[in-house]
Amino acid sequence: MSESSRHPFLTGLSKHRGAKPTILVIFGASGDLTMRKLIPALYNLSVDNLLPADFKFIGFGRKQMPNEDFREFSRKSIDDFSRRAMDADTWAGLESNFEYHCGAYDDLEAFKGLQNRILEIEKEYNRRFQLLFYISTPPSVFEPIITHLGECGLANHGSDEELIPKVVIEKPFGKDLESARALNTIIAKHFREEQIYRIDHYLGKETVQDLLVQRFANSIFEPIWNREYVSNVQITVAEQLGVGTRAGYYDQSGALRDMIQNHTMQLLSLTAMEPPVSLDPESIRDEKVKVLKAIQPLKLKHEGGDAIRAQYTEGLVEGKRVPGYMEEEGVPASSFTETYSALRLSINNWRWKGVPFYLRSGKRMARRISEIAVQFKQPPGILFGEGNKYDITSNVMVIRVQPDEGVTLIMNSKVPGLETRTQPVKMHFNYSTTYGSNTPEAYERLILDSMIGDSTLFIRGDETEESWRIITPLLDFWKEYGKTGLEHYTAGSWGPLASERLLWENKHEWRRPGN
Ligand code: NDP
Ligand code: BG6
Repeated sequence: MSESSRHPFLTGLSKHRGAKPTILVIFGASGDLTMRKLIPALYNLSVDNLLPADFKFIGFGRKQMPNEDFREFSRKSIDDFSRRAMDADTWAGLESNFEYHCGAYDDLEAFKGLQNRILEIEKEYNRRFQLLFYISTPPSVFEPIITHLGECGLANHGSDEELIPKVVIEKPFGKDLESARALNTIIAKHFREEQIYRIDHYLGKETVQDLLVQRFANSIFEPIWNREYVSNVQITVAEQLGVGTRAGYYDQSGALRDMIQNHTMQLLSLTAMEPPVSLDPESIRDEKVKVLKAIQPLKLKHEGGDAIRAQYTEGLVEGKRVPGYMEEEGVPASSFTETYSALRLSINNWRWKGVPFYLRSGKRMARRISEIAVQFKQPPGILFGEGNKYDITSNVMVIRVQPDEGVTLIMNSKVPGLETRTQPVKMHFNYSTTYGSNTPEAYERLILDSMIGDSTLFIRGDETEESWRIITPLLDFWKEYGKTGLEHYTAGSWGPLASERLLWENKHEWRRPGN
């Protein structure tokens, strides 16, 4: 296997040090994501010596900003948001490679100006660069950016296949199946699939990558990872935050589009997929798509259906009173946007037939916690099963995605003493105690992977469409019924009581995440 085709799980950092000379262009460079995540990620890659020796970063946006102001904006973003403190020498080496290009996203001339600047840099360095375009704007301008990159020739810049331009596209990728297909069609006019990196930052999280290692590098789990042994799987992505200043975006989106269609579906497909034939990106993504294809259409009913939606009302989060969703700034009085949704999914394949996968995500929940809990079946109640005499629980394997990253196995044990009493106990593996706490942020991994051309942790076009295929009928159903069927939950709680129904119908219960 050649060095360049090996997967980073196996090669560690050595592969990354070969990142090609790159000009990174971020569209939407004055924005929140660039400030909080992307610039700090570049800084941390630089600290780790993982940026290519020849590296340039051009911020693109409509806002007027001289280069000095953009460097100051970048320095402040590192001060405020980097996981590691600012090191003056690293910053001094990096900042001269940061510059800003002012232009409108729908103005072809602005893109020609950007192209001229890129040609100037190449002339100055007397070499070709790989171009990496990162679209970090609201989705309303994804299309003009992609079209202009194609029309002015930047999408095919240079003739060297090794340095082929790449485009990273932020979420949301469409708002339903039709718009996702349309976006895929537009991108395909200008970029080949291998140039396209659809981002889902959950795939960049350490624990999510570790899921593949847990499943396929340990022989004890795979034999029991199926309908013979697993009773149900619960995937929870809970946030304490409310909508904050993002009501304009969020009210058009809701929890189903914002979190379920992408992040929780990705967690599901990694948890449920078959072993890939190899670790190359296409083999892994083929298996993920197969799982999504096997998911059955949701039962769309108010009573007895497969989905619940709810909005938070005023409540206490960490002892602090917070307003309800309808009182948040920018939320229209007519809003019926869900801030919580829960689904019950059936995967109709050999491995999972009959095992419900429960997904839930909400804002303003009791704790910020994301986890995948695989609940195993009860042992036959022969020895310790009679009556209520013994405290026996089903085994659960919990992959703690965040915070407090790690894996917990819940099992039963005998309480020490002369009488036979049992009690559920936990075996923990903690990332921080084993590996230290300063692990790379998801965006560091994802920027680096896009720079080196590894698309494993990005979403393929057919994958995003399959996910929208499952979600879109539900979006239409909820839209048709407006506020009818919309439940409520108190901010700071674990969600609406109605979501318990999804599980009770199968005699299951939501676990209390973190327990
Ligand atoms: P912002 O709202 O901060 O917008 C980014 C930049 O785009 C702005 O600074 C502005 O730059 C330009 N812009 C804003 N509104 C418009 C508009 N209506 N038309 C044209 N340009 C506009 O977005 P974020 O940085 O929060 O998000 C960027 C992308 O990343 C989005 O697709 C979002 O869904 C995604 N994302 C964001 C996350 C976050 O935590 N912020 C998390 C995950 C994904 P200028 O005026 O200078 O052109
Ligand atoms: C984003 C959503 O994709 O993920 C946000 O748009 C959400 O609404 C965020 O807050 C959560 O990400 P994380 O990494 O903090 O769990």
